[in-house]
Amino acid sequence: MGNKGKILVTGGRGFIGVNLIQPLLQSRDVRVLDNLQRASPTGWQNQAADFFQGDVLEPGSLVPAFTDVPKVIHLAAYGSVVESVADPTSNFAVNVHGTLNVMNAAVEAGVERLIFASTGGALIGDATPPVDERSLPKPISPYGASKLCGEAYCHAFAKSYHLETVCLRFGNVYGPHSAHKKGAVTTFIKALMKDEPIVIYGDGSASRDYIHVEDLGSGIAAALEVPVEGSETFHLASGRETTVLELADILRQVAGKPHHPIHFKAARRGEVSRNFATYEKARCAFGFKPKWRLEDGLAATWEWFISQGEHVFSVEATDS
Ligand SMILES: NC(=O)c1ccc[n+]([C@@H]2O[C@H](COP(=O)([O-])OP(=O)(O)OC[C@H]3O[C@@H](n4cnc5c(N)ncnc54)[C@H](O)[C@@H]3O)[C@@H](O)[C@H]2O)c1
Repeated sequence: MGNKGKILVTGGRGFIGVNLIQPLLQSRDVRVLDNLQRASPTGWQNQAADFFQGDVLEPGSLVPAFTDVPKVIHLAAYGSVVESVADPTSNFAVNVHGTLNVMNAAVEAGVERLIFASTGGALIGDATPPVDERSLPKPISPYGASKLCGEAYCHAFAKSYHLETVCLRFGNVYGPHSAHKKGAVTTFIKALMKDEPIVIYGDGSASRDYIHVEDLGSGIAAALEVPVEGSETFHLASGRETTVLELADILRQVAGKPHHPIHFKAARRGEVSRNFATYEKARCAFGFKPKWRLEDGLAATWEWFISQGEHVFSVEATDS
């Protein structure tokens, strides 16, 4: 029995969820709700969390998991920019309607606080970085728009129903248990493992803010306790701008294949050209400070993929 009380994590069988839950279990009773549609194939097998199979699109399936939990971390979503451009309707359903269902369930069950997994880059759009909480959101993809809607409902539910909400805008998250993802770190590592060319969309100058999942988890755990009045928003990022070409280069070095071929393809719609964020507000509010240097975090992630062997190629990739 954890001493800090119960917590429910929606989407807790996904990449971020399985990494987040392990340390949370040291001090809390953790419940997981997931429909397993896009779950990570690794990382949850020996976890002592109570599992509830449910779908955020089916309000009735949420009730048992939400009963008697003071705090909820809402991760369940469709996380791909590219997929959202191809199918904005499904993205809207899970990310907006699903989030509304989760908030309704939270209010109905008397939940005190809901943490919402938002995004930095996709939500802000093509603003000149570094962005922060005062930057004007202007999403350029349906995925970014869906997360902006979620943030709006967080604010509205805090005001209308006294549900405390904390919106956390994640950078590009990487780390172990990400074999099912389709983001740059996972696809570049798989290409290096298979001896296939790394594919970069665009000329490689697009930049992102890569944050290790362990650092992200520390930020999420701290945000469970930070005093908020109604609703607050924080960027959880590394503060470091890295181009996609730099990312590929670091991974080539880490893999011991510095001359591994890179193929360039046309840039994809909906993807922002430059992004990184400052985390000063989170640092001041709850001492957030990422510990992982990108080079070390990528080396550790490479080692994790190698430790999984061929298995990483058999899992169906989902999103970024
Ligand atoms: N990974 C990143 O780089 C990143 C960056 C910014 C924001 N985020 C956000 O963080 C959250 C978690 O991302 P992730 O990388 O762990 O994704 P993921 O796809 O690995 O995990 C999502 C989980 O949600 C579950 N899920 C999907 N639809 C569901 C539904 N209708 N009902 C119940 N469960 C459902 C899936 O089965 C999966 O286990 C998402 O909200 C995502 O938008 C992620």
